[in-house]
Amino acid sequence: MIQLLQVPIIRREEPAPGHAELWVQSEELAEAKPGQFADVVTQGMLRRPISFSRIDRSNHQVALLLQVVGEGTRWLAAQRPGTTLDVMGPLGKGFSAPDPHRAWCVVGGGVGIPPLLAAVEAWGSQLSSPPTAILGARDQSLILLAEEFSASGCVVAVATDNGTRGHRGTIEEPLREWLGLHPEGQVYACGPTPMLKTVARLTNGRQGVSLALEQRMGCGIGACLACVIPGYVDGAAGYLRVCTDGPVFRAEELIFE
Ligand SMILES: Cc1cc2nc3c(=O)[nH]c(=O)nc-3n(C[C@H](O)[C@H](O)[C@H](O)COP(=O)(O)OP(=O)(O)OC[C@H]3O[C@@H](n4cnc5c(N)ncnc54)[C@H](O)[C@@H]3O)c2cc1C
Ligand code: FES
Repeated sequence: MIQLLQVPIIRREEPAPGHAELWVQSEELAEAKPGQFADVVTQGMLRRPISFSRIDRSNHQVALLLQVVGEGTRWLAAQRPGTTLDVMGPLGKGFSAPDPHRAWCVVGGGVGIPPLLAAVEAWGSQLSSPPTAILGARDQSLILLAEEFSASGCVVAVATDNGTRGHRGTIEEPLREWLGLHPEGQVYACGPTPMLKTVARLTNGRQGVSLALEQRMGCGIGACLACVIPGYVDGAAGYLRVCTDGPVFRAEELIFE
């Protein structure tokens, strides 16, 4: 069932330059699975998809962490506590709970990092060993939520393109190292497509690899086909809708061109 909601902003934080985290009060959104998203009305009535960075079921609150990249996110980031947002959600298919007996690594880039924090907060403590979080960004100022991942019990590895924090370069080397140490390990990743391609290439068919895509969207509910990507449908090559078939997919469902 599609839920159209009016949700009040109750808190606003600025976790990094050009970013805002908006906490909203909503019993319905707090039922979301990590990896699902909200489609939020912005300026000019256009909706924009934003993932949940935190899901607090007991207090009926969720957080939306967004980076300002255009008019819609600029408008959203400028909203203050007391404002009511017009939201559709929770939408899409989220992550499944990881196998608690296998090592677990989450790999995030840019605004792909926030939904992985929600996943770690939901399931990290149920695992037999602490999860690893590999976080990538261009620059140290754009590494989101590293302290929050540590506070959730993760071993955190950071990669920055310019080497200002952690490994210099992309997430490729830290992930390659982790995969070598954990041949049975499972990987959840969210971020830009080149990063997800790297994760798919390095994990090379291993089971338990989930990828969350940030495709541009139109309707958000499966009707307009603006978000389709190549993938396997009933075993044959075809197209998948990111908004309703995903945004979280098993790596083996996707065809990267
Ligand atoms: C399932 C899902 C979850 C998302 N979660 C988050 C989140 O938690 N936090 C967050 O900040 N953003 C998230 N995004 C991306 C966010 O929806 C876009 O940044 C936003 O729609 C841009 O709107 P705008 O009006 O500000 O920019 P626009 O004016 O629409 O675009 C500005 C620039 O950003 C590019 N752009 C717009 N949308 C995307 C996109 N989806 N992927 C890559 N580039 C894009 C455009 O090509 C353009 O160059 C998510 C996207 C999806 C599909
Ligand atoms: S955004 Fe319309 S079908 Fe996915």
